Amino acid sequence: MKQFSVVPEIVLIETCADFVTNYAVGAGDLIITSERTYKTYFADLVRGATVVFIRKYGQGEPSDEMVEGIYEDIKDSNYQRVVAIGGGTVVDMAKLFALETVSPVLDLFDHKILPVKTKELLILPTTCGTGSEVTNISILELKTRHTKMGLAVPELFADKAVLIPELLADLPQKFFATSSIDALIHAMESYLSPKASPFTEIFSVQAIENILYGYQIIATGGEAARKALLKDFLIASTYAGIAFGNAGCGAVHAMSYPLGAVYHVPHGEANYAMFTGVFKTYLRLKPTGKIQDLNNILAKILNCPGEAVYDGLEKLLNQILQKKPLHEYGVKQEELMSFTASVMEKQGRLMANNYTELSKEMVYKIYQELY
Ligand SMILES: [Fe+2]
Repeated sequence: MKQFSVVPEIVLIETCADFVTNYAVGAGDLIITSERTYKTYFADLVRGATVVFIRKYGQGEPSDEMVEGIYEDIKDSNYQRVVAIGGGTVVDMAKLFALETVSPVLDLFDHKILPVKTKELLILPTTCGTGSEVTNISILELKTRHTKMGLAVPELFADKAVLIPELLADLPQKFFATSSIDALIHAMESYLSPKASPFTEIFSVQAIENILYGYQIIATGGEAARKALLKDFLIASTYAGIAFGNAGCGAVHAMSYPLGAVYHVPHGEANYAMFTGVFKTYLRLKPTGKIQDLNNILAKILNCPGEAVYDGLEKLLNQILQKKPLHEYGVKQEELMSFTASVMEKQGRLMANNYTELSKEMVYKIYQELY
C-alpha cells in the first residue's frame, strides 16, 4: 500500500510586504527567525508580535538546549499563531512551539508527552533545502545524548507553507550550496526509497531536474546567474520536501547525523560528504532495478554514460560546494566504528528506506572509503 498527501496549504507570494498584509501578521503571533532576516525584511512591517531570534539561544544546528531556552523566554506570552521564518534550524524548532506542551523537549522526543497541536503554524523558508515547510519532522541535536534524533508526527505539519522568493535574495553562497544539495539528496533518496510511489517520483524527478539544470547554469554563468534561479530552487526544494515527506530519506541522512552531531558540520554539507559514497555502494550491491531509472535520468541531464553518473554528479556539485573527506572535518579513524554503531542503533527510521539493505559492515566500509 502506498499513500501520498500534501498537508500544508502551499502559498506562493512575491514579497514579504504582501505576506504581512494578507495574513495580518502582528499581535498574537510568535515569530521565530534570525535577527538578520527580521531586520532586513520584517522590522518595518510588523507591530505587536512576540519575536524570537534563535541565535540568542545557541550556534549551529537546532538542539534540545536551544528549544528549552526559547521556551523559558516565551512560556508566559499569549500567542495563537507561530510564524517560522528561516532555514532548518528555525523551522525544526518552531514546529514544536505550535504544540500544547513543548517542555521537557526530551520527553516529547521520547514520546512521553503526547503531541497536541493548539496553535496555527506558518512556515516561510529562507533557504532552498530543508523542505521542512511541507514535512512533519523536527530534527534536534540532543546534546546530552551526543546524537541527532527526529520526531515525526502529524501534529508537526504546518498549516501553510509560504514561499517568498524575496527571502532568498541575500542567501550567502555557502548556505545556498549546502541547502540546495540537501534538497537534491532528499529528491534522490526518496526516489529510491521502498516507500516511493508514482506520486512521489514525479516530485523527486522534477526537483532533481530543476536543481541540476540550475547548477549547470551557475557553473557556466557564475554567482550572478544564481539570482534569476532563486524561485526555481525554492520550488524545487519544496518539491523534494513533498517527495521525502511521503517516501522518506535513507542512509545518506542516517550516516551524516554523527558527523553533524559530533563535528557540527552543517546538515547539507554532512550529507554531501556521504552522498556519492552511499549511491555508488547501492549501485555496486544492486545494479539492476530502480537505480537504473535514476541513472538514466541523471545521465540525460549530465550528458554522460549511465555508469559514470555519480562521478559526473560529483564533478558538477564540486563547482557548487567542494566535497571533503571525513578526516578533514577532524574525524578520527577509530571513530568510524562508533559512527557505524550509532547509525545501526539509532537511525532505523531512515535505514528502513534504503534502496537495498546496508549491513553494519557495509556502513563501516562506506565510512572508511569516505575517510
Ligand atoms: Fe536533509
